[in-house]
Amino acid sequence: MIIIKTEEEIQKMKKAGEILADVHKEIAKIIRPGISTMDIDRFVDDYLAKRGAIAAQKGYHGYKYATCASVNDEICHGFPREELLKDGDIVTIDMVVDLDGWLADSAWSYAVGDITEEAKKLLDITRKSLYIGIEKAVIGNRIGDISNAIQKFVESNGFSVVRDFVGHGIGKSMHEDPQVPHYGNPGRGVRLTEGMVITIEPMINVGTFRLKIDDNQWTARTLDGKLSAQYEHTIAITKDGPLIITDQGEER
Ligand code: MF3
Ligand code: CO
Repeated sequence: MIIIKTEEEIQKMKKAGEILADVHKEIAKIIRPGISTMDIDRFVDDYLAKRGAIAAQKGYHGYKYATCASVNDEICHGFPREELLKDGDIVTIDMVVDLDGWLADSAWSYAVGDITEEAKKLLDITRKSLYIGIEKAVIGNRIGDISNAIQKFVESNGFSVVRDFVGHGIGKSMHEDPQVPHYGNPGRGVRLTEGMVITIEPMINVGTFRLKIDDNQWTARTLDGKLSAQYEHTIAITKDGPLIITDQGEER
């Protein structure tokens, strides 16, 4: 069942999203070779507390951390760890912020120091694919229109779209209907209506889209060991078009 949000509820989610956007902007300032993803996780926890918000992922199905931190071939649900990030790494930091019971979800991939041309292209295409999907998040379109636009753009640039994880509705719960795949056919799936709030969160791989899950039962990594990146926004479907709840005012 899809839970439609009122304008007031969307404004509450926007407040959570503004804090989340600010966290990502702070991470961008501190991320460098020699910092650990556990340092970033502690920073996020403290920062959210100062803003009166909560890290919604902590305790979710037994998950222990404020953030997911997925390095290089890790696709998603990487555990923050004390190991230091190295020059040339890429890392995706994903989190859900809860402000007064309303949630916002956003993941961002970061370059650590100097990265390869291939890694730069991966980050660039993945971020652009998110905005290509967002453009399709308008009243009257269907979920498949978002999915297809992302898949076409990504594959025409030689990369692959992860199948096993999808975007989702979000509100007072982290995961609501509908599911939002980042691959598929246009004109298919649920029709978008005013007041729906969804995440769009393409996970894009340099090589195969196939993955394996680590022994920790959480972390997904590419089967071929090649790089993976992800950008995610929470989006409200409104009369005025897609409202990016977690907008950082960043380059599109
Ligand atoms: N932010 C993730 C999502 O997009 C949720 C991570 S799973 C968790 O759905 F357990 F870490 F919360
Ligand atoms: Co999400």
